[in-house]
Amino acid sequence: MRLKIVENRQIAKDTYILKLENPALYEILPGQFFMIKVNDFNYPLLRRPLSVAGFSDTIDFIFRVVGEGTKILSLKKEGEFIDILGPLGNGFTINSSKRLILVGGGIGIAPLLYLKDTIENRYRLKCESYFGFNTKDEVFVNEGNIATMDGSLGFKGTAVDMVQGDLGKDSLVYACGPLPMLKKLALLCFEYGCEMQVSLEARMACGIGVCLGCVVPTVGGDFKRVCVEGPVFDYEEIQWQEM
Ligand SMILES: Cc1cc2nc3c(=O)[nH]c(=O)nc-3n(C[C@H](O)[C@H](O)[C@H](O)COP(=O)(O)OP(=O)(O)OC[C@H]3O[C@@H](n4cnc5c(N)ncnc54)[C@H](O)[C@@H]3O)c2cc1C
Ligand code: FES
Repeated sequence: MRLKIVENRQIAKDTYILKLENPALYEILPGQFFMIKVNDFNYPLLRRPLSVAGFSDTIDFIFRVVGEGTKILSLKKEGEFIDILGPLGNGFTINSSKRLILVGGGIGIAPLLYLKDTIENRYRLKCESYFGFNTKDEVFVNEGNIATMDGSLGFKGTAVDMVQGDLGKDSLVYACGPLPMLKKLALLCFEYGCEMQVSLEARMACGIGVCLGCVVPTVGGDFKRVCVEGPVFDYEEIQWQEM
């Protein structure tokens, strides 16, 4: 589906928000993603996966420029059209009987923003958020508890360091971010006996379950596809030592 760009602007260091006209055809769950074709040519060949960061009169993505595809995307202008495939994957499940805690690192915060909006404005529930960045110039949110590695804004340290004292048996943690952060958080959740739903990233070629390029190891000894069975998993399903 080709959708018109309503806005594409830089919001922090190397970080952009892309808003597309919403054709009102979709119901999108927080945690789901789209495969984005960054231009009309055959190169780069593969679509790039981006999570939905907001969904209202526009479909919003927040992305970090890390390579060629995201660089091309950052140069797109309002009024241009872009080809997207989705929504894909599963989504986060909201459980109103738990204390809901969002923990995100860097660009992994993007899907948590749509989750936060859904929890608060659709389900009318409360949640606490802990968002970590390297430095102040990378911060692209103005809500939740903010941590920076260098202490240039908010708590000094990681989002995991910051949330630690707030975890308990009644917590349901929703997490997305770099793998070392997720591994550390998984250990803490085991320790505190809380639940965690984690959104994983993997290199994706097809995004629709065909190429098997995105598989992750599970405790049962088999592999699951991040694009179809994920990207959101119960953390107890994942074989973290092999990640
Ligand atoms: C389900 C899912 C949702 C995602 N949501 C977002 C999002 O909301 N915002 C966002 O900015 N990014 C998101 N990503 C990551 C994003 O897809 C990649 O950053 C992007 O594809 C990079 O494309 P590129 O052409 O710019 O970089 P490339 O030239 O392809 O790669 C540049 C560098 O980035 C690394 N890289 C590329 N893709 C990934 C990846 N998936 N995981 C880890 N390292 C990678 C490469 O190893 C390389 O070092 C998501 C990934 C997945 C799987
Ligand atoms: S990206 Fe091809 S199977 Fe997941």
